[in-house]
Amino acid sequence: MTTASRFGYQYVVLRCVPDVVREEFRNVGVVLYSQLAGFLDIGYELDAQRLQSFSPSLDLVDLRRCLDEAVQLCRGDTAPGRPELRRPGQRFGWLSAPRSTVLQPGPVHGGVTDDPAVELRRLVRVMVGGAVEPSVIAADPAAALGDPHGRHPAPLIRAGLPSDDRALRQLAHSSWSHVHNPMPAPSPLSEPFFNEHHQPDDVLVAEIDGEIVGYLLIGRPYPMETGSHVRQIQGLDVSPRARRRGVGQALVRAAVREMSERGAQRVTLRVLGHNRSARRLYESEGFVVEGTLPGEFVLDGERVDDVLMGLRLPPRVQ
Ligand SMILES: CC(C)(COP(=O)(O)OP(=O)(O)OC[C@H]1O[C@@H](n2cnc3c(N)ncnc32)[C@H](O)[C@@H]1OP(=O)(O)O)[C@@H](O)C(=O)NCCC(=O)NCCS
Repeated sequence: MTTASRFGYQYVVLRCVPDVVREEFRNVGVVLYSQLAGFLDIGYELDAQRLQSFSPSLDLVDLRRCLDEAVQLCRGDTAPGRPELRRPGQRFGWLSAPRSTVLQPGPVHGGVTDDPAVELRRLVRVMVGGAVEPSVIAADPAAALGDPHGRHPAPLIRAGLPSDDRALRQLAHSSWSHVHNPMPAPSPLSEPFFNEHHQPDDVLVAEIDGEIVGYLLIGRPYPMETGSHVRQIQGLDVSPRARRRGVGQALVRAAVREMSERGAQRVTLRVLGHNRSARRLYESEGFVVEGTLPGEFVLDGERVDDVLMGLRLPPRVQ
């Protein structure tokens, strides 16, 4: 006889509503909360083609931004203008409250399950559909990658390979947001990740259990000899389902080591002022703020600073 626990749960379906007046919608995701299991998580499938054939004028960037916000909220990330919701129940309440944006929650439903994570995947498949396995994003880090007891496997950090192109493209595509990137939404998935600016050699890749979960781009900010002692972190991305388990830190540490070995005496980077998680990560690795370009970008209607950070490396003993 099995003695599996039965957990009560609530869920809402997230709907894409391109025109709030017409109120027509397509389901894009599900948020599931189980107080008993201590579980709050979101899964979604952003099928651009399907959504655009439903509504050609749909603002996909706005939809992606709303989904990013929902993911961050689920995870408990704080951001300016967002209330601090410490408990998962409060966050579910916020996510399921009616609103009139391009992403709207449907009514709250309930159920019982032995495994909320499995149930969420099932609901995403049933409610959202699509041929692809939904990108389920764990709000509780212990429920994401790694074993069920929440032990974090250390990521393997290695140099990029040409064969990583597709996985890196997908990672950059799925994690893009204006929280960390002032550029427009990433180029189509069909465009290669590696290009004249970044070759596999300039990329460090983080793997957990053979899956690529993060990358960091190393570059030289100046082509001339006078600035050859400076290297730059020109991109850093950790898959949302692998965050808060040391992957970003491992990538930054490996990159600093690598740059030092390549002769760098100084490492710089630029980070958006409102990107608190990245700024905290860099600060914890010894980077300091060296300058600020105030209000350098207008992102989602708000002026955002661009912050220059730097790290001095001791000269290498030959
Ligand atoms: C920023 C980012 C790379 C961090 O990666 P990560 O693997 O989640 O970070 P780590 O688990 O290694 O965290 C290391 C430290 O960074 C800080 N940090 C990371 N995420 C944080 C968050 N959400 N809130 C607060 N601090 C955070 C903490 O100091 C953390 O140490 P702690 O876990 O002991 O508190 C990741 O959130 C990400 O990919 N964000 C989107 C892309 C991005 O912002 N890139 C940077 C562009 S400049």
